[in-house]
Amino acid sequence: MKSTLATLSLLATTTLAVPSATTFPAASGETAFPTAHIVSGSFDGEMLRFSRDPNTCRDQTETGEADAMFIVEPGGAISNAILSAAQAEGIHCRGACTLTNVWWEDVCEDAATFKQAAANATSRVVGGGARRAADKIFQFNGRGTVAVTDFYAEDYGKLVRSCGDCGANGGPRHVVVEGVVAKQGGVLCGINSNYEDTCTITGSCQNSGKSCDRYTGVEKGDGNSVKIGSGPDNYSCSVDGFTRTC
Ligand SMILES: *[C@@H]1O[C@H](CO)[C@@H](O)[C@H](O)[C@H]1NC(C)=O
Ligand SMILES: *[C@@H]1O[C@H](CO)[C@@H](O)[C@H](O)[C@H]1NC(C)=O
Repeated sequence: MKSTLATLSLLATTTLAVPSATTFPAASGETAFPTAHIVSGSFDGEMLRFSRDPNTCRDQTETGEADAMFIVEPGGAISNAILSAAQAEGIHCRGACTLTNVWWEDVCEDAATFKQAAANATSRVVGGGARRAADKIFQFNGRGTVAVTDFYAEDYGKLVRSCGDCGANGGPRHVVVEGVVAKQGGVLCGINSNYEDTCTITGSCQNSGKSCDRYTGVEKGDGNSVKIGSGPDNYSCSVDGFTRTC
């Protein structure tokens, strides 16, 4: 029985290690909004390419929600959308949200920011992909869990980073990475050990073997967060079925 279970879990892991797609999809058309589009409930982008006009991207200058492409109200969901380079802050989730089959062609400041306050909240990214992120793809400023499943990342700094130096910083923040393929980039998660964050990576690959970096996070105004270690420590960061073969 034990070996059957082990085989099954190996099969499950192998299956998970493939995101829905590793090529960026073609857009069905173009659309642009003058301000951030607010989503409550579900929004299906029908594979249109979304931009801000005028363009709000100012590279790594941290702007804010107003410069995002979409703002998602708690419990909201976005699916089937392509975000162009012509926007700054991607998607801002004010509470738990679900982003399914969303593609970021050229990440500006970051692709999405998760701000859910509740310790039991979970936001999910399912399928989709992001590329050309000078630093972070997903910024986790709230609490609870962010789960990234079957996602494709290419040419990026970090896949998910717990806020290093937010106001009212703290945790714990839990990052779950499953079935992610990540190339030409850095760690899949950067977490703050001093706030009891965790990162669990299963059935994923990063072609340089970069899984997680552990930091000491700080309160805004108290300097910078400091990196204290890399790789799984089997306490705050654990990996299972993690490879360099992407
Ligand atoms: C989360 O916790 C809050 C307050 O403790 C509770 O009201 C809510 O039902 C919980 N939600 C879930 C999804 O468990
Ligand atoms: C974590 O666990 C794995 C698998 O049991 C083991 O190979 C590895 O040495 C452990 N790492 C640390 C830092 O304890």
